Amino acid sequence: MGRRFFVGGNFKMNGSISSVKEIVNNLNGAKLDPNTEVVVAPSAIHLLLVRESLKKEIAVAAQNIYYKKNGAFTGELSVEQLNDAGIAWTLLGHSERRVSMAEVAESNEFLAEKAKAALAGGVGVIFCCGESLEIRKENKTKEHVLSQLKSAASAIKDWSKVVIAYEPIWAIGTGEVASPEQAQEVHADIRAWLKSDVSPEAAENTRIIYGGSVSEKNCVELAKKPDIDGFLVGGASLKPAFVDIINAKS
Ligand code: G3P
Repeated sequence: MGRRFFVGGNFKMNGSISSVKEIVNNLNGAKLDPNTEVVVAPSAIHLLLVRESLKKEIAVAAQNIYYKKNGAFTGELSVEQLNDAGIAWTLLGHSERRVSMAEVAESNEFLAEKAKAALAGGVGVIFCCGESLEIRKENKTKEHVLSQLKSAASAIKDWSKVVIAYEPIWAIGTGEVASPEQAQEVHADIRAWLKSDVSPEAAENTRIIYGGSVSEKNCVELAKKPDIDGFLVGGASLKPAFVDIINAKS
């Protein structure tokens, strides 16, 4: 059967109502590979607009959630609210929420709580991990990435609604895409860890996707690697070329 190719679009804090409608119209009219699972993650303010106007075969993700049930948590989004709005996924652990936005600085433990709450509520989790250039230069990439995943693993009982996104921080938004070999090496480390520390089934079935300067020019070569099961796309997801990335395996 194999793992279904998975392409996510992380719009980050970008877009206006008109520009997001343009993206939706482009995706609604595009011929997309039916063998690719597609999820788009607009800003929270656009979630309902996207969900209600985008063709149903494309799922919608929040970029973040809080782990508590509805209540006095100003500014946050709950799993119940996502379910109520038909939002089937959430990103968690993006490096911009772990590191880049220092004021936010989400810890592994906090993210494990969020993953637990999302999965318990039936919301799928695109769980992000990745190292800084400094960590890579110290040859500590594997150790760092697995430490991020081990923490979340303690909260994950069912891996069937988890997608792991490996996003080296030095490749995000820089144009410095990881080589297919660099990405494959880390993806293989993650898959080996899943097999040894979670289960052979989780290792076989969990999609491990790559993010960091993915474009229509580099996606085909990356997609040829055995442990690269798709992409989490930032900047390019805001452009018509996102369709080419979705169809990278076609
Ligand atoms: O979550 C995906 C994102 O971090 C990658 O961004 O712009 O390098 O594709 P970008």
